[in-house]
Amino acid sequence: MKNVFSFQQLFRKKSIAQIHADAAAGYIDEPGHSSLRKELTVVDLTAFGIAAIVGAGIFSTIGGAAFNGGPAVVFLFIFTAIACGFSALCYAEFASRIPVAGSAYTYAYASFGELIAWIIGWDLLMEYAIGNIAVAISWSDYFTGLVAGYGWHISDFLTMDFVTASKGYAKITELLASGMTMEQIQLNPDWTYTLNAYNAWVKAPLIGGFHFVCDLPAFVITVLTTGLIFFGIRESKRASNFLVALKILVILLIIVMGAFYVNPENWSPFAPNGVSGVLKGVSGVFFAYIGFDAISTTAEECQNPQRDLPRGMIASLVICTGLYILIALVLTGMMSYKKLNVGDPLAHVFGPAGVNLPWISGIVAVSAVAAMTTVLLVFQLGQPRIWMAMSRDGLLPRIFSSIHPKYKTPWFSTLLAGFAVAVPTQFLNLTEVTDLTSIGTLFAFALVSGGVLFLDRHDVRHDNRFHLPYINGQFLIPGILLAIFAGIWLISPETIQVFLNTGSAEKLPMWTFLIFAGVLAVLSFKRRLSAIPVLGLLSCTYLMTELGLTNWIRFGIWLLVGLALYFTYGVRKSRLRTNLAFADQR
Ligand code: ALA
Repeated sequence: MKNVFSFQQLFRKKSIAQIHADAAAGYIDEPGHSSLRKELTVVDLTAFGIAAIVGAGIFSTIGGAAFNGGPAVVFLFIFTAIACGFSALCYAEFASRIPVAGSAYTYAYASFGELIAWIIGWDLLMEYAIGNIAVAISWSDYFTGLVAGYGWHISDFLTMDFVTASKGYAKITELLASGMTMEQIQLNPDWTYTLNAYNAWVKAPLIGGFHFVCDLPAFVITVLTTGLIFFGIRESKRASNFLVALKILVILLIIVMGAFYVNPENWSPFAPNGVSGVLKGVSGVFFAYIGFDAISTTAEECQNPQRDLPRGMIASLVICTGLYILIALVLTGMMSYKKLNVGDPLAHVFGPAGVNLPWISGIVAVSAVAAMTTVLLVFQLGQPRIWMAMSRDGLLPRIFSSIHPKYKTPWFSTLLAGFAVAVPTQFLNLTEVTDLTSIGTLFAFALVSGGVLFLDRHDVRHDNRFHLPYINGQFLIPGILLAIFAGIWLISPETIQVFLNTGSAEKLPMWTFLIFAGVLAVLSFKRRLSAIPVLGLLSCTYLMTELGLTNWIRFGIWLLVGLALYFTYGVRKSRLRTNLAFADQR
């Protein structure tokens, strides 16, 4: 028997040539043919990118970020865009070298070997599935509010997850027990959300003693999106392009109309809660940028992936960054940041509490629903394609890469992905899933950026694919790090004091980052590392440190579950281990 835990095997890399050969070798249902349809152009890819990026983040989580950081949240949008930009360039480099469906999973296989590839694949599942759980929940909130505006009130117990309802019930019961009256609770707007949860619990029908609380809209939209993806890439593309056009028009409308109502006094003070207030928004703001990476999963459905994927990723990120910065400025200029802690801030500033233009508020609500639908669509499209790539490598059972003979889509993985999102929407809470998605995605971005450092810089240069520009990091990286530390020391010394005063467990991620940054500075100096991937790695790992210890622990548990699966299944079935040609496995 072979030694399944041998170090060499766990870190054995899959060569780029072999990755290409496997992708071309076909799928188990149709030997000899790559059976996905090559439909996508650069315009479709850019539209897919925007489809995936603009969603719950800009329509929802920006509210909390602006409330904590004040108008200075715009700097967080800029910094996050720069961090994503470095990673996007690294994704583009990989996508142009390895244009197959597995995205960062496949890139990691080529640069770090099998174990890390599995970890990243598992992590991407978290990004896509848990991210979509968040988007579906948010979609449901906007949809419920929208139809309520037309006089159709869906019962609370049909629009809420089970856990939120049961926690709401427990909290209100506790308040009543502490002596508050129901009237006092009803009159206090701080308790509105909890009260809705309480009502959902109390009014829910009892089935065998079980409170039947569910989030029906979230469930239905996930099922509908899954159905669309199941039936074909062409149908998904058309639906996505239409909805993207709609959401961009509405965002431009918000920016232009909002600009007339900006009161510059709202921008003062610009950073009311200092750097730490701005940084509280990291998770929400980063969440708003997630998505450009997802288009790399459609590589095998592109007409010219090596040229178009990099262009699509970078174009969609640049367009969204411009829109986001303008929205952040308009939003915080129209209303005091103190009033922005709501779930639908863009509709709110045009509503009665803001400039009172109900027709715009209505349009914003409709477009938020459209925007989130496209996010759902792209991530539901991406998940099965990653599973497909992992299955082709033997790390998941073969059925995961089975292509439907008529619709030419990975049918089993598509249905499973729908199930993996639709069911948890009934139990999970929005903030927790957003945070987990952000930490998982940052981890993927960091690994992709780091992976570029392992690629051969002198690889074929005569082709016309995208090439990541090499900028010598020898002095640049240590110089930038020193400048940042000196800047913080001189301009905002209280930031250092706040850090020193936090508990030692909370300090752990930041200490780890500081050591990591030091090591990278030394390596950059000694080995003249390429500056763009190093900056991508540093900025993403830095943002990860801002996500709090609880998220790190949850993320760690997720990775441990993934490792357990790998060591019980993938490590034995891996095609690299069994050394079987794909055809031999049939
Ligand atoms: N960026 C996507 C959104 O904001 C995930 O919904």
